[in-house]
Amino acid sequence: MRFIALDKLINLHDGYRREFRVEYQRLLLLQHEGERYIVEALCPHLEHPLMEAWLEGGELLCPLHGYRFSLLTGRLIEATREDCRPLRVWPVAYEGPDVGISWTDG
Ligand code: FES
Repeated sequence: MRFIALDKLINLHDGYRREFRVEYQRLLLLQHEGERYIVEALCPHLEHPLMEAWLEGGELLCPLHGYRFSLLTGRLIEATREDCRPLRVWPVAYEGPDVGISWTDG
């Protein structure tokens, strides 16, 4: 596992949302109500970009069909159509002035 820096901690604030690509994976780093999260950038349902997602409490809501996921665990909380897999989430990692992800190769 290796640390990959995504941004400087000083740049983060509530409302922060930025997309990154780590190897094949598109990720979103976001801060909401003082908490920071890293989630996959496309909805697990039909791959709508989650850059446009709504955040409510600890939940992320995809605007396309209204599926709701836990920001903390990625669990699918509510589906308006067929179920889909959970949202992939990663713990936020810190190293010095950087915020990033602990990434496992392969
Ligand atoms: S694409 Fe996100 S809920 Fe359907």
